[in-house]
Amino acid sequence: MSEDNPDVLNLPGIDESKASDESIVKVHSRIRRQRVAGSAVAFFSSTAFIIVLTFGWFQLRRHTAGYDPQMYLSERGDIHAFLNYVPAGAGVEKTPFEIGQELYMMRCSSCHQVNGEGMAGNFPPLAGSEWVLHEDAALPIKIVLAGIAGPITVMGQQYNSNMASVVGDLEDRDVANIVTYIRQSWGNEASEVTADQVASVKEEIGSRGPWTAEELQSYFE
Ligand code: HEC
Repeated sequence: MSEDNPDVLNLPGIDESKASDESIVKVHSRIRRQRVAGSAVAFFSSTAFIIVLTFGWFQLRRHTAGYDPQMYLSERGDIHAFLNYVPAGAGVEKTPFEIGQELYMMRCSSCHQVNGEGMAGNFPPLAGSEWVLHEDAALPIKIVLAGIAGPITVMGQQYNSNMASVVGDLEDRDVANIVTYIRQSWGNEASEVTADQVASVKEEIGSRGPWTAEELQSYFE
């Protein structure tokens, strides 16, 4: 090792024969200085990375719609999920029985009561009534279409009152739904009624006032 050779630092490598302690220290300090430049690059690139992440986060928050699968219909599974998506309560078809029940609540339950028991002395019961349960559904259809007035015996009890037609502008289908409902509720078990049956009873009786029980007595002979 020769001492004080000023050329040492200009050499591309370290020539051991020419290196002095001092020159080695100088080389190392240069290398350290380069390291400082390297950490500046690391500093700026990580700052840029943080900026990208931060903007990315805001972008995602703004455009992902809460990662709701309904928003992404590119996947087959997602399309399937969308097509099966039913908002609560919407588009659910009511059965004829359920429609009949609703109509019964609106048009009949004030007199015959929600439980179909009627009110002793005033309104005859429909639950268990031989008029409702008759195997020929034309009987209850006739009563519902035109009403009934005067003395009538229901389940051994006498009534003498008056029920006007409560059908109003209901379609045949809905009259059928009501009669089906009273024939199949509260333990009643009789056949379902169709709109066609209602239409043919309508045609048979035309427009007329309330029946008397006597006029319909032939159903029990
Ligand atoms: C305003 C009260 C009232 C309403 C509303 C009413 N009814 Fe009646 N209903 C009566 C009365 C009273 C009688 C008995 C009439 C009589 O004494 O001749 C009767 C008799 C009947 C009968 C024959 C007797 C029996 O108990 O089985 C049937 C069937 C019947 N109603 C069904 C219905 C249906 C279905 C509705 C709704 C679409 C309805 N009623 C709405 C008062 C009412």
